[in-house]
Amino acid sequence: MHAPLLDIRALHLWMRSFEGEAHVLQGVDLQVGHGEVWGVVGETGCGKSLTGLSISRLVPSPPARYGQGQILFDGQDLLTLPEAQMRPLRGGRIGMIFQDPTTNLNPLFRISDQLVDVALAAAAWRPELLAVPAGASQRDKRRAARALALEMLERVRIPDAARRLDDFPHQFSGGMRQRVLIAMALIGRPQLLIADEPTTALDVSVQAQVLTLLQEMVRDFRMTVLLITHNLGVVAQACSHVAVMYAGSIVERGPVREVLGQPTHPYTRALLAAIPRREMARGALEGIPGVVPDLVRPPPGCRFAPRCARAQDGCQAQVPALLPASANTGAVTGHEVACFHPLPAGAAC
Ligand SMILES: Nc1ncnc2c1ncn2[C@@H]1O[C@H](COP(=O)(O)OP(=O)(O)O)[C@@H](O)[C@H]1O
Ligand SMILES: [Mg+2]
Repeated sequence: MHAPLLDIRALHLWMRSFEGEAHVLQGVDLQVGHGEVWGVVGETGCGKSLTGLSISRLVPSPPARYGQGQILFDGQDLLTLPEAQMRPLRGGRIGMIFQDPTTNLNPLFRISDQLVDVALAAAAWRPELLAVPAGASQRDKRRAARALALEMLERVRIPDAARRLDDFPHQFSGGMRQRVLIAMALIGRPQLLIADEPTTALDVSVQAQVLTLLQEMVRDFRMTVLLITHNLGVVAQACSHVAVMYAGSIVERGPVREVLGQPTHPYTRALLAAIPRREMARGALEGIPGVVPDLVRPPPGCRFAPRCARAQDGCQAQVPALLPASANTGAVTGHEVACFHPLPAGAAC
Protein backbone atom coordinates (compact mmCIF):
# COMPACT_ATOMS: atom_id res chain seq x y z
CA MET A 1 0.00 0.00 0.00
CA HIS A 2 1.16 3.55 -0.80
CA ALA A 3 2.10 5.82 2.08
CA PRO A 4 -0.51 8.54 2.44
CA LEU A 5 0.30 11.87 0.82
CA LEU A 6 -0.64 13.64 4.03
CA ASP A 7 -0.20 12.00 7.41
CA ILE A 8 -1.12 14.08 10.44
CA ARG A 9 -0.06 12.31 13.61
CA ALA A 10 -1.17 13.24 17.12
CA LEU A 11 -1.17 16.95 16.36
CA HIS A 12 -1.51 19.06 19.49
CA LEU A 13 -1.82 22.82 19.32
CA TRP A 14 -2.16 25.35 22.12
CA MET A 15 -3.15 28.97 21.50
CA ARG A 16 -2.51 31.71 23.96
CA SER A 17 -5.58 33.85 24.57
CA PHE A 18 -6.88 36.35 27.10
CA GLU A 19 -8.23 33.61 29.34
CA GLY A 20 -5.11 31.45 29.24
CA GLU A 21 -3.71 28.80 26.93
CA ALA A 22 -6.39 26.97 24.96
CA HIS A 23 -5.74 23.38 23.90
CA VAL A 24 -7.30 23.87 20.47
CA LEU A 25 -6.05 20.75 18.68
CA GLN A 26 -6.02 17.68 20.88
CA GLY A 27 -4.21 14.92 19.05
CA VAL A 28 -5.58 15.28 15.51
CA ASP A 29 -4.90 12.14 13.47
CA LEU A 30 -5.61 12.10 9.76
CA GLN A 31 -4.19 10.10 6.88
CA VAL A 32 -5.07 11.30 3.41
CA GLY A 33 -4.21 8.96 0.56
CA HIS A 34 -3.31 10.04 -2.97
CA GLY A 35 -6.42 11.06 -4.88
CA GLU A 36 -8.73 11.05 -1.86
CA VAL A 37 -11.04 13.98 -1.26
CA TRP A 38 -11.55 14.47 2.47
CA GLY A 39 -14.22 16.65 3.95
CA VAL A 40 -13.49 18.04 7.40
CA VAL A 41 -16.69 18.95 9.22
CA GLY A 42 -17.82 20.13 12.62
CA GLU A 43 -19.32 23.09 14.39
CA THR A 44 -17.68 26.51 14.40
CA GLY A 45 -14.66 26.59 16.71
CA CYS A 46 -13.82 22.89 16.61
CA GLY A 47 -10.41 23.36 14.98
CA LYS A 48 -11.05 22.82 11.27
CA SER A 49 -9.32 25.97 10.08
CA LEU A 50 -6.41 25.59 12.48
CA THR A 51 -5.85 22.07 11.13
CA GLY A 52 -5.75 23.37 7.55
CA LEU A 53 -3.61 26.35 8.44
CA SER A 54 -1.20 24.11 10.37
CA ILE A 55 -0.51 22.06 7.24
CA SER A 56 0.47 25.24 5.41
CA ARG A 57 2.25 26.43 8.55
CA LEU A 58 0.27 29.65 8.54
CA VAL A 59 -0.65 29.71 12.22
CA PRO A 60 1.39 32.48 13.79
CA SER A 61 3.62 31.24 16.58
CA PRO A 62 3.22 32.81 19.12
CA PRO A 63 0.34 32.72 20.03
CA ALA A 64 0.47 29.15 18.70
CA ARG A 65 2.53 26.40 20.30
CA TYR A 66 2.75 22.90 18.86
CA GLY A 67 3.28 19.75 20.88
CA GLN A 68 4.86 16.46 19.88
CA GLY A 69 2.80 15.85 16.72
CA GLN A 70 3.89 15.54 13.13
CA ILE A 71 2.48 16.65 9.81
CA LEU A 72 4.08 14.40 7.21
CA PHE A 73 3.63 15.57 3.63
CA ASP A 74 5.03 13.04 1.21
CA GLY A 75 7.07 11.71 4.13
CA GLN A 76 8.53 15.06 5.18
CA ASP A 77 7.56 16.65 8.53
CA LEU A 78 6.27 20.11 7.72
CA LEU A 79 6.36 21.22 11.35
CA THR A 80 10.15 21.02 11.45
CA LEU A 81 10.82 22.27 7.92
CA PRO A 82 12.75 25.55 7.74
CA GLU A 83 10.56 28.41 6.52
CA ALA A 84 12.77 28.79 3.42
CA GLN A 85 11.78 25.24 2.37
CA MET A 86 8.17 25.71 3.41
CA ARG A 87 7.61 28.80 1.28
CA PRO A 88 7.91 27.10 -2.14
CA LEU A 89 5.53 24.36 -1.01
CA ARG A 90 2.73 26.87 -0.50
CA GLY A 91 1.12 27.52 -3.86
CA GLY A 92 3.46 24.93 -5.36
CA ARG A 93 2.88 21.42 -4.13
CA ILE A 94 0.23 22.56 -1.67
CA GLY A 95 -2.52 24.75 -3.08
CA MET A 96 -4.67 26.74 -0.71
CA ILE A 97 -8.02 28.46 -0.74
CA PHE A 98 -8.33 30.17 2.63
CA GLN A 99 -10.37 33.09 3.76
CA ASP A 100 -7.51 34.86 5.46
CA PRO A 101 -5.75 37.73 3.67
CA THR A 102 -2.42 35.90 3.24
CA THR A 103 -3.88 33.52 0.71
CA ASN A 104 -6.48 35.84 -0.72
CA LEU A 105 -6.29 38.12 -3.73
CA ASN A 106 -4.32 41.27 -3.14
CA PRO A 107 -6.55 44.25 -4.05
CA LEU A 108 -3.56 46.31 -5.19
CA PHE A 109 -2.34 44.01 -7.96
CA ARG A 110 -3.77 42.95 -11.27
CA ILE A 111 -5.12 39.39 -11.51
CA SER A 112 -2.53 38.64 -14.20
CA ASP A 113 0.42 39.63 -11.99
CA GLN A 114 -0.86 37.58 -9.05
CA LEU A 115 -1.40 34.47 -11.18
CA VAL A 116 1.94 34.89 -12.95
CA ASP A 117 3.81 35.16 -9.64
CA VAL A 118 2.30 31.94 -8.34
CA ALA A 119 2.99 30.15 -11.62
CA LEU A 120 6.63 31.25 -11.68
CA ALA A 121 7.12 30.15 -8.08
CA ALA A 122 5.48 26.79 -8.77
CA ALA A 123 7.62 26.29 -11.89
CA ALA A 124 10.65 26.15 -9.61
CA TRP A 125 9.63 22.64 -8.53
CA ARG A 126 7.63 21.73 -11.63
CA PRO A 127 9.48 23.25 -14.63
CA GLU A 128 7.18 21.55 -17.17
CA LEU A 129 4.42 23.90 -16.00
CA LEU A 130 5.81 26.54 -18.34
CA ALA A 131 6.25 25.30 -21.86
CA VAL A 132 9.69 26.83 -22.32
CA PRO A 133 13.09 25.19 -22.75
CA ALA A 134 15.36 24.92 -19.73
CA GLY A 135 17.47 28.05 -19.49
CA ALA A 136 14.83 30.24 -21.11
CA SER A 137 15.09 33.94 -20.35
CA GLN A 138 13.11 35.48 -17.50
CA ARG A 139 11.05 37.31 -20.08
CA ASP A 140 10.12 34.12 -21.91
CA LYS A 141 9.21 32.46 -18.62
CA ARG A 142 6.96 35.38 -17.72
CA ARG A 143 5.29 35.21 -21.10
CA ALA A 144 4.68 31.49 -20.66
CA ALA A 145 3.33 32.05 -17.15
CA ARG A 146 0.95 34.67 -18.52
CA ALA A 147 -0.30 32.24 -21.14
CA LEU A 148 -0.87 29.70 -18.38
CA ALA A 149 -2.71 32.32 -16.31
CA LEU A 150 -5.05 32.97 -19.21
CA GLU A 151 -5.60 29.24 -19.72
CA MET A 152 -6.50 28.89 -16.04
CA LEU A 153 -8.97 31.78 -16.15
CA GLU A 154 -10.61 30.10 -19.12
CA ARG A 155 -10.73 26.80 -17.26
CA VAL A 156 -12.54 28.39 -14.34
CA ARG A 157 -14.84 29.96 -16.94
CA ILE A 158 -14.23 33.64 -16.46
CA PRO A 159 -16.15 35.10 -19.42
CA ASP A 160 -13.95 37.06 -21.82
CA ALA A 161 -10.87 35.92 -19.90
CA ALA A 162 -8.32 37.52 -22.24
CA ARG A 163 -9.80 40.95 -21.59
CA ARG A 164 -10.29 40.37 -17.85
CA LEU A 165 -6.75 39.07 -17.22
CA ASP A 166 -5.36 42.51 -16.40
CA ASP A 167 -8.29 43.60 -14.25
CA PHE A 168 -7.99 44.25 -10.53
CA PRO A 169 -9.83 42.00 -8.03
CA HIS A 170 -12.48 44.63 -7.25
CA GLN A 171 -13.63 44.53 -10.86
CA PHE A 172 -14.92 40.99 -10.33
CA SER A 173 -18.09 39.84 -8.57
CA GLY A 174 -17.77 37.65 -5.46
CA GLY A 175 -18.43 34.45 -7.39
CA MET A 176 -15.97 35.41 -10.12
CA ARG A 177 -13.33 36.34 -7.52
CA GLN A 178 -13.74 32.90 -5.98
CA ARG A 179 -13.18 31.37 -9.43
CA VAL A 180 -10.00 33.43 -9.76
CA LEU A 181 -8.91 32.18 -6.33
CA ILE A 182 -9.46 28.62 -7.48
CA ALA A 183 -7.38 29.37 -10.59
CA MET A 184 -4.65 30.81 -8.38
CA ALA A 185 -4.69 27.81 -6.02
CA LEU A 186 -4.49 25.35 -8.91
CA ILE A 187 -2.19 27.10 -11.37
CA GLY A 188 0.84 25.36 -9.83
CA ARG A 189 -0.85 21.94 -10.21
CA PRO A 190 -0.56 21.20 -6.48
CA GLN A 191 -0.56 17.62 -5.24
CA LEU A 192 -2.65 18.65 -2.26
CA LEU A 193 -5.39 21.27 -2.21
CA ILE A 194 -6.63 22.66 1.09
CA ALA A 195 -9.87 24.57 0.69
CA ASP A 196 -11.40 26.20 3.77
CA GLU A 197 -15.10 26.99 3.32
CA PRO A 198 -14.49 27.85 -0.37
CA THR A 199 -18.13 28.60 -1.11
CA THR A 200 -19.52 29.79 2.22
CA ALA A 201 -19.10 33.51 1.56
CA LEU A 202 -20.94 33.31 -1.77
CA ASP A 203 -24.59 33.80 -2.64
CA VAL A 204 -26.45 30.52 -2.38
CA SER A 205 -27.19 30.58 -6.10
CA VAL A 206 -23.49 30.79 -6.92
CA GLN A 207 -22.29 28.29 -4.29
CA ALA A 208 -23.40 25.22 -6.22
CA GLN A 209 -21.74 26.41 -9.45
CA VAL A 210 -18.44 27.11 -7.74
CA LEU A 211 -18.51 23.78 -5.92
CA THR A 212 -19.23 21.91 -9.15
CA LEU A 213 -16.37 23.76 -10.83
CA LEU A 214 -14.03 22.85 -7.99
CA GLN A 215 -15.07 19.20 -8.26
CA GLU A 216 -14.37 19.20 -12.00
CA MET A 217 -10.92 20.66 -11.51
CA VAL A 218 -10.09 18.21 -8.73
CA ARG A 219 -11.04 15.35 -11.03
CA ASP A 220 -9.19 16.71 -14.07
CA PHE A 221 -6.02 17.47 -12.11
CA ARG A 222 -6.27 14.26 -10.03
CA MET A 223 -5.76 16.21 -6.87
CA THR A 224 -5.79 15.11 -3.28
CA VAL A 225 -8.03 17.43 -1.30
CA LEU A 226 -8.86 18.56 2.20
CA LEU A 227 -12.18 20.37 1.97
CA ILE A 228 -13.09 22.16 5.18
CA THR A 229 -16.75 22.94 5.52
CA HIS A 230 -19.51 23.12 8.09
CA ASN A 231 -21.91 21.83 5.45
CA LEU A 232 -22.49 18.07 5.36
CA GLY A 233 -24.39 18.45 2.10
CA VAL A 234 -21.18 19.70 0.49
CA VAL A 235 -19.34 16.68 1.89
CA ALA A 236 -21.94 14.26 0.55
CA GLN A 237 -21.69 15.86 -2.89
CA ALA A 238 -17.97 16.40 -3.23
CA CYS A 239 -15.98 14.09 -0.95
CA SER A 240 -14.81 10.48 -0.89
CA HIS A 241 -13.98 10.55 2.83
CA VAL A 242 -14.95 12.60 5.84
CA ALA A 243 -13.41 13.50 9.19
CA VAL A 244 -15.78 14.79 11.85
CA MET A 245 -14.13 17.14 14.34
CA TYR A 246 -15.29 18.07 17.80
CA ALA A 247 -13.47 20.42 20.18
CA GLY A 248 -10.05 19.85 18.64
CA SER A 249 -10.15 16.13 17.83
CA ILE A 250 -11.35 13.90 15.05
CA VAL A 251 -14.18 11.88 16.59
CA GLU A 252 -15.22 9.87 13.54
CA ARG A 253 -13.71 9.33 10.12
CA GLY A 254 -13.87 7.12 7.08
CA PRO A 255 -15.50 6.79 3.67
CA VAL A 256 -18.39 9.24 3.23
CA ARG A 257 -20.87 6.47 2.50
CA GLU A 258 -20.10 4.67 5.78
CA VAL A 259 -19.77 7.69 8.05
CA LEU A 260 -22.78 9.63 6.78
CA GLY A 261 -24.83 6.51 6.06
CA GLN A 262 -24.14 4.78 9.36
CA PRO A 263 -22.84 7.37 11.80
CA THR A 264 -21.68 5.79 15.04
CA HIS A 265 -20.52 8.79 17.07
CA PRO A 266 -23.39 10.56 18.85
CA TYR A 267 -21.92 13.86 17.69
CA THR A 268 -21.94 12.84 14.02
CA ARG A 269 -25.53 11.71 14.47
CA ALA A 270 -26.41 15.09 15.93
CA LEU A 271 -24.72 16.94 13.06
CA LEU A 272 -26.72 14.92 10.57
CA ALA A 273 -29.93 15.65 12.46
CA ALA A 274 -29.08 19.36 12.23
CA ILE A 275 -28.66 19.38 8.43
CA PRO A 276 -31.82 21.28 7.54
CA ARG A 277 -30.49 24.28 9.45
CA ARG A 278 -28.59 26.63 7.19
CA GLU A 279 -26.05 27.75 9.73
CA MET A 280 -24.48 25.57 12.35
CA ALA A 281 -23.56 28.28 14.76
CA ARG A 282 -21.80 27.43 17.98
CA GLY A 283 -24.17 25.58 20.28
CA ALA A 284 -27.02 25.52 17.78
CA LEU A 285 -27.21 21.72 17.53
CA GLU A 286 -30.76 20.52 17.60
CA GLY A 287 -31.50 18.14 20.39
CA ILE A 288 -28.11 18.54 22.02
CA PRO A 289 -27.91 20.85 24.96
CA GLY A 290 -24.80 22.82 25.72
CA VAL A 291 -22.05 24.36 23.62
CA VAL A 292 -18.57 23.52 22.40
CA PRO A 293 -16.52 23.49 25.61
CA ASP A 294 -14.10 26.11 26.80
CA LEU A 295 -10.76 24.87 25.50
CA VAL A 296 -8.74 26.67 28.16
CA ARG A 297 -10.33 24.39 30.77
CA PRO A 298 -11.65 21.51 28.66
CA PRO A 299 -13.66 18.73 30.29
CA PRO A 300 -11.55 15.67 31.09
CA GLY A 301 -11.73 12.53 28.96
CA CYS A 302 -14.16 12.69 26.05
CA ARG A 303 -14.81 16.35 25.34
CA PHE A 304 -18.27 15.58 24.02
CA ALA A 305 -19.37 13.73 27.17
CA PRO A 306 -20.97 16.77 28.88
CA ARG A 307 -23.38 17.11 25.93
CA CYS A 308 -23.84 13.44 25.17
CA ALA A 309 -27.01 11.50 25.96
CA ARG A 310 -25.09 8.22 25.85
CA ALA A 311 -22.31 9.30 28.21
CA GLN A 312 -21.56 7.14 31.25
CA ASP A 313 -19.25 7.52 34.21
CA GLY A 314 -16.11 6.22 32.49
CA CYS A 315 -16.36 8.65 29.56
CA GLN A 316 -14.60 11.43 31.44
CA ALA A 317 -11.81 9.23 32.76
CA GLN A 318 -9.90 8.92 29.50
CA VAL A 319 -9.73 10.37 26.00
CA PRO A 320 -11.25 7.81 23.61
CA ALA A 321 -8.98 6.62 20.78
CA LEU A 322 -10.07 6.18 17.17
CA LEU A 323 -10.95 2.51 16.67
CA PRO A 324 -12.74 0.58 13.90
CA ALA A 325 -16.44 1.51 14.06
CA SER A 326 -17.48 -2.08 13.63
CA ALA A 327 -15.42 -5.14 14.36
CA ASN A 328 -16.84 -6.72 11.21
CA THR A 329 -16.51 -3.99 8.60
CA GLY A 330 -14.71 -1.03 10.16
CA ALA A 331 -11.28 -2.59 9.90
CA VAL A 332 -11.81 -3.11 6.18
CA THR A 333 -13.44 0.19 5.23
CA GLY A 334 -11.41 2.45 7.50
CA HIS A 335 -14.54 3.70 9.29
CA GLU A 336 -13.31 4.66 12.75
CA VAL A 337 -14.84 6.28 15.79
CA ALA A 338 -13.49 7.71 19.04
CA CYS A 339 -16.27 6.87 21.49
CA PHE A 340 -16.66 4.51 24.44
CA HIS A 341 -20.33 3.90 23.68
CA PRO A 342 -20.78 4.28 19.92
CA LEU A 343 -24.08 3.68 18.22
CA PRO A 344 -24.13 0.33 16.44
CA ALA A 345 -22.92 0.86 12.86
CA GLY A 346 -25.89 -0.99 11.44
CA ALA A 347 -28.51 1.12 13.24
CA ALA A 348 -30.96 2.96 11.01
CA CYS A 349 -30.37 6.69 10.86
N1 LIG B 1 -5.48 33.34 16.68
C1 LIG B 1 -6.12 32.67 17.65
N2 LIG B 1 -5.86 32.92 18.95
C2 LIG B 1 -6.49 32.25 19.94
N3 LIG B 1 -7.42 31.29 19.71
C3 LIG B 1 -7.73 30.99 18.43
C4 LIG B 1 -7.11 31.67 17.33
N4 LIG B 1 -7.61 31.16 16.17
C5 LIG B 1 -8.51 30.23 16.55
N5 LIG B 1 -8.60 30.14 17.90
C6 LIG B 1 -9.47 29.23 18.66
O1 LIG B 1 -9.20 27.90 18.25
C7 LIG B 1 -10.39 27.16 18.17
C8 LIG B 1 -10.51 26.53 16.79
O2 LIG B 1 -10.64 27.54 15.83
P1 LIG B 1 -10.83 27.25 14.27
O3 LIG B 1 -9.82 26.27 13.82
O4 LIG B 1 -10.86 28.56 13.59
O5 LIG B 1 -12.28 26.57 14.25
P2 LIG B 1 -13.22 26.24 12.99
O6 LIG B 1 -12.48 26.52 11.73
O7 LIG B 1 -13.57 24.80 13.15
O8 LIG B 1 -14.43 27.10 13.15
C9 LIG B 1 -11.53 28.10 18.52
O9 LIG B 1 -11.87 27.89 19.87
C10 LIG B 1 -10.93 29.46 18.32
O10 LIG B 1 -11.50 30.38 19.22
MG1 LIG C 1 -12.94 27.88 10.21
